[in-house]
Amino acid sequence: MILFDNPASPFCRKVNIVLAETGQQGDVTVRPAIGHPLDSGKMPTTENPLGKIPTLLRDNAAALYDSRVICQFLNARAVGNLYPEDALWDVLTLEATGDGICDAAVAMVYEGRTRPADKQFPDMVEAQWSKIERALDTLETRWVDQMNAPLNIGQIACIAALGYLDFRLGDRDWRAERPVLAAWFGDLADRPSVAATMPFAP
Ligand code: BEZ
Repeated sequence: MILFDNPASPFCRKVNIVLAETGQQGDVTVRPAIGHPLDSGKMPTTENPLGKIPTLLRDNAAALYDSRVICQFLNARAVGNLYPEDALWDVLTLEATGDGICDAAVAMVYEGRTRPADKQFPDMVEAQWSKIERALDTLETRWVDQMNAPLNIGQIACIAALGYLDFRLGDRDWRAERPVLAAWFGDLADRPSVAATMPFAP
């Protein structure tokens, strides 16, 4: 299989953590995919009409996207345990919360990166950050039990989200007043799948 990947993308990081946790890294060849909304560059526009990453090319089957589909496919392929039946809807909602943080954070980053200086819209950036803060507060309070369950796809999405905040929005200091979440994230830092997938700019 071929994975269109970018080590800066939190959505690609989810897939890479799932590959590591389910022992499938050797089954995938990584193809670097760099681009952004204004320049599709090396993005997989033929394989995925949305031209987004991650995209997974299976052998002799249609391409898969987005990260939610790919992660679920990889877990099923390896008969993994990242989608526990007894907590499925909670785990999927936790995944949606992590992904939503990533969506808002990427929107903030691209606002600064792609818009000309005279077209910057700070109110939109702050509106995205408000979403992220509400989601982080929810993780700090409502999701504690699920965050401490055996590793699941919801937690993986949150790891990718918090890692991306550190990577691109570190000056916002998400840890301030969120000691439970900060400790949870700190405890996971040495897990091999987490340590091996730290984001970096290609
Ligand atoms: C980034 O450089 O921050 C980025 C790259 C790809 C997808 C999302 C974010």
